[in-house]
Amino acid sequence: MDTSTYKTEVAAAFNSAAASYDRLGVEFFTPMGRRLVERAAPGEGARVLDIGCGRGACVFPAAERVGPGGRVTGIDVAEAMIEEAAKEAALRDAATVELRVMDGEYPDFAPRSFDVVLGSYSIIFLPDAPAALARYAPLLSPGGRLAFTSPVFTEDTFPFLPPVFTELIPRELLLDLPPQWQPERLQERFNSWLADPADLARTLEEAGFQEVSVVDEPVRLVAESGRAWVDWSHTQGMRLLWNHLSDDKRQQLRTRLIGSLDAMRDGDGPLTIDTPVRYVTATVRT
Ligand SMILES: C[S@@+](CC[C@H](N)C(=O)[O-])C[C@H]1O[C@@H](n2cnc3c(N)ncnc32)[C@H](O)[C@@H]1O
Repeated sequence: MDTSTYKTEVAAAFNSAAASYDRLGVEFFTPMGRRLVERAAPGEGARVLDIGCGRGACVFPAAERVGPGGRVTGIDVAEAMIEEAAKEAALRDAATVELRVMDGEYPDFAPRSFDVVLGSYSIIFLPDAPAALARYAPLLSPGGRLAFTSPVFTEDTFPFLPPVFTELIPRELLLDLPPQWQPERLQERFNSWLADPADLARTLEEAGFQEVSVVDEPVRLVAESGRAWVDWSHTQGMRLLWNHLSDDKRQQLRTRLIGSLDAMRDGDGPLTIDTPVRYVTATVRT
């Protein structure tokens, strides 16, 4: 699949998901975004750029931190995500928040426009993320910081899913998926550089950063039930996987996942999965 078809597919998936994205009672993106902002620690008055901002999991915590003298700019390739984030900004009367539809691979801003660049679970969607990171460095002021999250990939994970879900999805249902959605092909995929911390640090150094830190820390994913998780999975990156299955295989996978996830619950209690998340921070090299 060429880059522009892929981006159109990603934008379409997130446009369709935007109205319910992160609003189905499953906790994951909001606590992760808040934690990323804590780690990036933008100070009062800072100017922050959030790449692939979605509905604002990082934008609003960042706006709280930078205060009235700062500015938070969220960009996303999916127009509907930007519309949802803009509604939220209006509700909160968040005057320092600016939201724009823009490709995160080519952010169009003047050099040194920002003090912090963020990206929560979004850098993984960029077809050539190392090249994009090299475009972020000149946007930062001296001493400026980059901070992003990704799943903790292992050799056989799906492109956009934490390992626990790869374990639950039977391979035979996935044989018709295009190569880029197949597990066990990490080396051929565009996210392979994120799997090994040493590779990751080298990639960031080549992109113009230093003092790279890679910390894996779980986010407690909480859903009411297996069904709630599966419904939620259609509103995030896994939608791309669902979209590629036939009706028959989609139904089989739905039933399998609901059963396996409900088996992980403690009786009628909620489904809780401590999902490993990789937090990467770095400082721009001056
Ligand atoms: C899993 S969501 C994360 C959203 C938000 N950062 C959060 O934590 O809730 C991934 C986001 O990346 C956006 N995205 C994917 N490819 C992009 C690109 N090339 N440029 C900008 N945004 C992109 C998607 O539209 C989606 O909103």
